[in-house]
Amino acid sequence: MAIQTVASTPVPGQRPGTSGLRKKVTVFRQPHYLENFVQSLFDTLGDLTGKTLVLGGDGRYHNRSAVQTILKMAAANGVARVLVGQGGILSTPAASCVIRKSEALGGIVLSASHNPGGPEGDFGIKYNISNGGPAPESITEAVYARTTAITAYRISDAAEVDIDRIGSAQLEQMQIEVIDPVADYAELMQRLFDFDAIRKLFAGGFTMRFDAMSAVSGPYAKTILEGMLGAPAGTVINAVPLEDFGGHHPDPNPVNAAELIALMASPTAPDFGAASDGDADRNMIVGRKFDVTPSDSLAVLAANAAVAPGYRGGIKGIARSMPTSRAADRVAEALGVPCYETPTGWKYFGTLLDAEKATLCGEESYGTGSNHVREKDGLWAVLFWLNLIAATGKSVQEIVTEHWSKYGRNYYSRHDYEGIDSDAANVLMDDLRVKLANLAGQEMNHYTVDYADDFSYTDPVDGSQAQKQGIRIVMTDGSRIVYRLSGTGTEGATLRVYLERYEADPALHNIPTQQALAALIAIADSVANIAANTGRSNPSVIT
Ligand code: G1P
Ligand code: ZN
Repeated sequence: MAIQTVASTPVPGQRPGTSGLRKKVTVFRQPHYLENFVQSLFDTLGDLTGKTLVLGGDGRYHNRSAVQTILKMAAANGVARVLVGQGGILSTPAASCVIRKSEALGGIVLSASHNPGGPEGDFGIKYNISNGGPAPESITEAVYARTTAITAYRISDAAEVDIDRIGSAQLEQMQIEVIDPVADYAELMQRLFDFDAIRKLFAGGFTMRFDAMSAVSGPYAKTILEGMLGAPAGTVINAVPLEDFGGHHPDPNPVNAAELIALMASPTAPDFGAASDGDADRNMIVGRKFDVTPSDSLAVLAANAAVAPGYRGGIKGIARSMPTSRAADRVAEALGVPCYETPTGWKYFGTLLDAEKATLCGEESYGTGSNHVREKDGLWAVLFWLNLIAATGKSVQEIVTEHWSKYGRNYYSRHDYEGIDSDAANVLMDDLRVKLANLAGQEMNHYTVDYADDFSYTDPVDGSQAQKQGIRIVMTDGSRIVYRLSGTGTEGATLRVYLERYEADPALHNIPTQQALAALIAIADSVANIAANTGRSNPSVIT
């Protein structure tokens, strides 16, 4: 065994996006591509002597091979110890949990989240810091800068490590612990939620379907729902993680999880439905004939947090990404706690959670979480809902409609135009920026624009700033249109248009969402000239 120094040259385009570096597998398999990025990360982290890192991923194609490369590079860069999930598996929230529990320097999470997998699919790599959360931009930008100047990387020429057997191994001077990917996470969930009450719920005949979408949440959901909580076998479907997710798009929304939605609308629907994404940090909650929007889910959990033992002491605050609906703001107001509005991406919640300013966080993109880890957490949200159902004896629909009666309903939808031409997308955004200054006061389709701006953010804890985080047009009644370009895609550009309208009157809470938002949708299209700029008359995905 020897440590090699391999000469290399910079590969362009290694700037991490909303959540790490995401590219096609074919890109990651180019010579030196992964190695350059990992070496740049290690160089940025500085002296790794005596340090522990956590390593694992969502099990997608290329995961195992990347784990081997990273282990050999970690050993060559002087890392003392790596905790790696068995089979190279760690869901994103579980990785966060293990980093925190083991007091590691940080962790490397291999995932492209909800993006499709397989040899022609996507791959991704992300660094999480010692609090268990995604590295802030100061670190990701430093890593990126390093990738543009790299001249060599270090790697051991040792044989592959057996990552399938739990136990210890040695690579050069480095200690490797292959750990059970589920155990620490399951133990944490048990502390947060009333498992006895949920067990009684299942014992009483409550039925549920959890769709793991052939992704990494399968083993976690099986162990916790069917194992620890006594849900009948078969509750978790598509439970075996596959390298290509069975060819499916492992993104839990009503479009990609159409089978679950159809089941929940059928006469044989179980009481409760849920799904999670590629790396198990997203969640979708569905009742019988009733989908819950992620924004509403955050608000409902915040309003009822005290049902769960882990939150009995109350919540200190709520944080939501800017495009997420303001349903949570109303709950925060009623609870007398602050509600923070951050740019899109979980990395912006880290400082607020660390400073105990926020306890619950959420994004409209099927992401919900809390201070228990520093990532969003799909199964956590599902367990929270189960705890809530067990505590109240109410159905999902009853819980949400009663919430609306109390707080009003924030009608909400996101329209995505995927895979559009990048230049056209930039033109659309630039044109909008030019228009912003003149929008205030204009009347459109019975709405009057209150203000329009490009969202910028100053972190209330560390003062760091983020600009150009989404263009918003806010009406005098609080209704909003937000435009953003996706930072996670790997092909062309994706335009996201977020639409929100508040309705206080319970008699008007049953309008189909797209109908309720029709006037705003028309304004969104005409102000941004979406059809003309993108060549698309309709969004590719509506959630
Ligand atoms: C998307 C979501 C965002 C989420 C991110 C990672 O990012 O919109 O809320 O944090 O995935 O899961 P986007 O593609 O919009 O940049
Ligand atoms: Zn994800």
